[in-house]
Amino acid sequence: MADDLIERLRARGGLKWTRHPGALGAWVAESDLGTAPAVTRALHEAVDRGLLGYLPDWLAGDMARATAGFLRERHGWDVPPERVRPLPDVLAGLSAAITHLSRPGSPVVLPTPAYMPFLEVPPALGREVLEVPMARDGDRFVYDLDALDAAFLAGGHLLVLCNPHNPVGRVLEPAEVLAVAEVVDRHGGRVFADEIHAPLVYPGHRHVPYASLGEVPARQAVTATSASKAWDLPGLKCAQLVLTNEADAALWAEVGHPVEHGASTLGAVANTAAYTDGGAWLDELLVVLDGHRRLLADLVAAHLPGVRYTPPEGTYLAWLEGLDADRPGDLLLARAGVAVVDGGRCGAAGRGAVRLNFATPAPVLERVVERMGAALR
Ligand SMILES: Cc1ncc(COP(=O)(O)O)c(C=O)c1O
Repeated sequence: MADDLIERLRARGGLKWTRHPGALGAWVAESDLGTAPAVTRALHEAVDRGLLGYLPDWLAGDMARATAGFLRERHGWDVPPERVRPLPDVLAGLSAAITHLSRPGSPVVLPTPAYMPFLEVPPALGREVLEVPMARDGDRFVYDLDALDAAFLAGGHLLVLCNPHNPVGRVLEPAEVLAVAEVVDRHGGRVFADEIHAPLVYPGHRHVPYASLGEVPARQAVTATSASKAWDLPGLKCAQLVLTNEADAALWAEVGHPVEHGASTLGAVANTAAYTDGGAWLDELLVVLDGHRRLLADLVAAHLPGVRYTPPEGTYLAWLEGLDADRPGDLLLARAGVAVVDGGRCGAAGRGAVRLNFATPAPVLERVVERMGAALR
């Protein structure tokens, strides 16, 4: 069963299953669980119509309204559709936020462990990254407010706040968001709120958008999101920027066009369909992923004794610590034939951990962890 599934995943030819030939793919944040039929249908229709030119205004408008509707229904956040702008991807939003919204030359404040490109994008723009290791509250990662404060004192201006968090899976509670906002406010800082994983939150937790929590967070933040993770569309290059600050909206009207130009038409078709008609499918996906995050706890207990894993509150990413190796990701690829993300790529605070993607059929997930266990024994 697992063999057949693996063969089919390889035959599909996606990045996760082809970068490391022969290995099991559990690294990049692509899902093996497909997308909603409503999305596939909308894409087929668009291709059949020949809708393959640049992103038309009417479609950007449809996507903005669909995004606003989804944010209202799922997260109780009311944003005017005019404030939702197309992006080619979330990282393009981060680059634009650094370039246009942060103090020229200022370092970027990054809680770690962090999504790997967050460590690469600022230096590519000539900016330093101030890594701020997250703290622990029992099993949970939390923001270290004093350390954040110190990073702003050291000259940091833009905070990258990823919620739900890649790689540790936290979904912030409103009080935690407000505590961060207070620190940012003290320093007149800005926030790039990366909420790409917002649709992927498990029972018992609720995603509360940063900018929805009042005037101060709304003024600080520029938010980026996309249907690309939950509905597995990252290759279609389309995301959304949500502007909640008058001055940012005015600035974006001047400088945003070259960035928006990168958003793809089929990506906008797919994002619109996902937000509008993909809700029931998403709910079913969440049931499956909720099962997988629990299954993974059993698999870790059975095959990876001594490894620490707290099921994530959101995302389909698991953070495994205590693997007893310097670069456990490299070791697992070499010895187990399992491709995961080495935690060291997530910043100094991630060393010794790995990030494992569990958005795959259960038999494949079982095979992945069995192989890891055999290699580490
Ligand atoms: C937190 C986070 N931000 C951004 C991205 C990248 O998104 P995009 O392809 O839209 O740049 C990912 C992809 O995994 C992610 O997990």
